[in-house]
Amino acid sequence: MKIAVVGTGYVGLVTATCLAELGHSVIGMDKDEAKIRIILSGRAPFYEPGLDELLASNLKKGHLRFSSDQAEAIRAAEVIFVCVGTPPQEDGSADMSQIEEVARMIAENLNGYKLVVEKSTVPVKTSFWIKRVMSSFKKSEHPFDVASNPEFLREGSGVGDFMSPDRVIIGVETERARDLLVRIYERFKDRIVITNIDTAELVKHASNSFLALKISFINMIADLCERTDADVEMVARGMGLDPRIGGSFLKAGLGYGGSCFPKDVKALAKIGSELGVDMTLLRDVDAINDDRIRIFMEKIRRALWILKGKTVGILGLAFKPETDDIREAPSIKVIRELLKQGAFLRLYDPKAASNMKELFPEDSQAVSYVASPYQAAQDAHILLILTEWEEFRTLDLARVKTLMANPILIDGRNVFDPAAVRALGFEYASIGRK
Ligand code: UGA
Repeated sequence: MKIAVVGTGYVGLVTATCLAELGHSVIGMDKDEAKIRIILSGRAPFYEPGLDELLASNLKKGHLRFSSDQAEAIRAAEVIFVCVGTPPQEDGSADMSQIEEVARMIAENLNGYKLVVEKSTVPVKTSFWIKRVMSSFKKSEHPFDVASNPEFLREGSGVGDFMSPDRVIIGVETERARDLLVRIYERFKDRIVITNIDTAELVKHASNSFLALKISFINMIADLCERTDADVEMVARGMGLDPRIGGSFLKAGLGYGGSCFPKDVKALAKIGSELGVDMTLLRDVDAINDDRIRIFMEKIRRALWILKGKTVGILGLAFKPETDDIREAPSIKVIRELLKQGAFLRLYDPKAASNMKELFPEDSQAVSYVASPYQAAQDAHILLILTEWEEFRTLDLARVKTLMANPILIDGRNVFDPAAVRALGFEYASIGRK
């Protein structure tokens, strides 16, 4: 099958590479020529485990090619996956201008039947607008269909999620579109769920919002645990053993970040309100998440009182482990707050430091990036854990303690066992545990 993938961001590049791995002939397209040059060298412009190997091997096999020429990619393909960004706007709604631009471009280059597949996360009813734009801009009478095939990839395990999906949702309104998508995903045919387009669009937004709801729920319970003798890790375990609830996404901490949950919760709340539905529940999910930073800063204040002139070691900058992505990372808000209060920061992350440097450049006194967790602890009055990278779990805490000016550890991700850390002589606080 000849497939074009428009947009080579996280979703687009993983999708293009994995579709090629499934045996299709894929052309990836991005307007950003510099990005295309990096990709053509066989390496992703971001860190994603396993992607570089798959990319290089499919480029070599000739299943996969890339171009910055949109028209060429569109004309070469029968099926076009749209993977461009839909970033949030001030009012919470998704900015759909890139989707509209691609729809116009496809309409202007119709040289035969095309199936346009929405892969980016889009609000329900987007297919209606794509069809409308394409009908008004098309320059020939070739037929086209629009379909929705939302992605459920997690950063850090995107390749595995694509190659062994829990489900493949296909939202279509014609048999032709259904048959094409079923053929593309032939290998996963036991997991295909066929729906209409509005349903498929909503499956995606509802799934992300529900996972975000689980996280805000457990964070609310964590706050309650801190005012009682309960332990949030054990509450989550006890709840999760009920298969109707399930144990995943019940990890209390600094709240959800990344390019999806914060944006999708807001966008679903917005579209729901526009359609006359009371979306208070989702607005509360969002508000609880926002409040995590204030609650965390309060723990720091309780431990140190005054931050001005204090050295703060920070372990973890990425919005979650196994990625270099810092979009909507809780660390950004924590760093901003600490700098506002006059603290000196020693920052460490195994992958995300260079991205963070663009936001908070190195500065001789206030912000320094270090090469190891131990260097972050050096002379620190307090050490904060903001991302639960695996390497932090095996830190030699006794050594960390000898390096610090003050052995205070605030663990925003419940990485350590409180009793063990305190036995080493640390003052220790975490989330929802005594
Ligand atoms: C999320 C979804 O999990 C994917 O299914 C979806 O395809 C993707 O969004 C998307 O829409 O593109 P992702 O943003 O990569 O994937 O990350 P998650 O692993 O879901 O984590 C999101 C945030 O929730 C992270 O900040 C993480 O630290 C936080 N989290 C997650 C918690 O605080 N507690 C948990 O129990 C789980």
